[in-house]
Amino acid sequence: MAGRLEGKVIGITGGASGMGLAFGEAFAREGASVLIVDLNEDAAKKAVEGIVEAGGSAAYAVANVVDRTQVVAAVQTAVTEFGRLDVWFNNAGYNAPMQFLDITEENFRRVLDINALGVLIGTQEAAKQMVAQGQGGKIINTSSIAGREGFPTFAPYSASKAAVISLTQSGAKALAKHEITVNAFAPGVVATPLWDKLDEDLYAIGDIQSRGTALNEYEKGIIRGRMAHPKDIVGTALFLASEDSDYMTAQCIMIDGGMTLV
Ligand SMILES: NC(=O)c1ccc[n+]([C@@H]2O[C@H](COP(=O)([O-])OP(=O)(O)OC[C@H]3O[C@@H](n4cnc5c(N)ncnc54)[C@H](O)[C@@H]3O)[C@@H](O)[C@H]2O)c1
Repeated sequence: MAGRLEGKVIGITGGASGMGLAFGEAFAREGASVLIVDLNEDAAKKAVEGIVEAGGSAAYAVANVVDRTQVVAAVQTAVTEFGRLDVWFNNAGYNAPMQFLDITEENFRRVLDINALGVLIGTQEAAKQMVAQGQGGKIINTSSIAGREGFPTFAPYSASKAAVISLTQSGAKALAKHEITVNAFAPGVVATPLWDKLDEDLYAIGDIQSRGTALNEYEKGIIRGRMAHPKDIVGTALFLASEDSDYMTAQCIMIDGGMTLV
């Protein structure tokens, strides 16, 4: 039976770890050729090896999502390796929590650069390729519950993820005439390597009392009663990457176990 993404070429930033890795693996299982775009070359290489060993098609490009030249080169890698680009997934993200009154300009700019400017650049450069192909395409953006609600120690991150929702709407309106849809999804607490650094940071600023407790602290209040794992989010990513979501654009799907009610 043909996969849901047979023949599609999908580039995913932050595809070497956590959710991005789980999505890339799932896309390949559904027949897509996957370009893993990540800062971390070793992890990207490993991700590609895993997909290829499982019988899938994948390649990688090392790129920082805030560096337009590197993003252009990554898009070009998709075209060189697989002949085209159908879906671009702006998934890479970064957080460096600080107490609200301590947040520096440097911290704010860094978080906004990676999470918001990176999404703008990725959307623009992927869309240029899709427009040139003339057959439409899909842009998918990873937002967060923090994009719907501010958090005291995550203020720049929340602002950046709200910007992702806004860029999703602007991009959808701008690109509709090219048959390109732009959608986002917003996870809540997902157990990925991102939480290793977050746990350290939250401990350092006194937001949690002991190391290794951040995930459990933050899962309190989730209606589904537990944190998510990447596999809980894969179905949403597949929906957004497949033709099942063709009529949907400018939306942000909350997939957070009922953490944020909007
Ligand atoms: N884990 C969660 O609880 C959670 C919740 C809501 C939203 N998110 C968002 O989901 C996305 C994926 O997060 P994850 O939890 O899988 O994280 P992760 O840390 O496991 O993976 C992130 C990947 O992004 C890459 N990356 C970071 N900065 C980059 C840059 N500038 N350019 C290119 N690659 C870069 C890293 O090398 C890493 O491979 C992020 O946008 C994150 O903000 C995560």
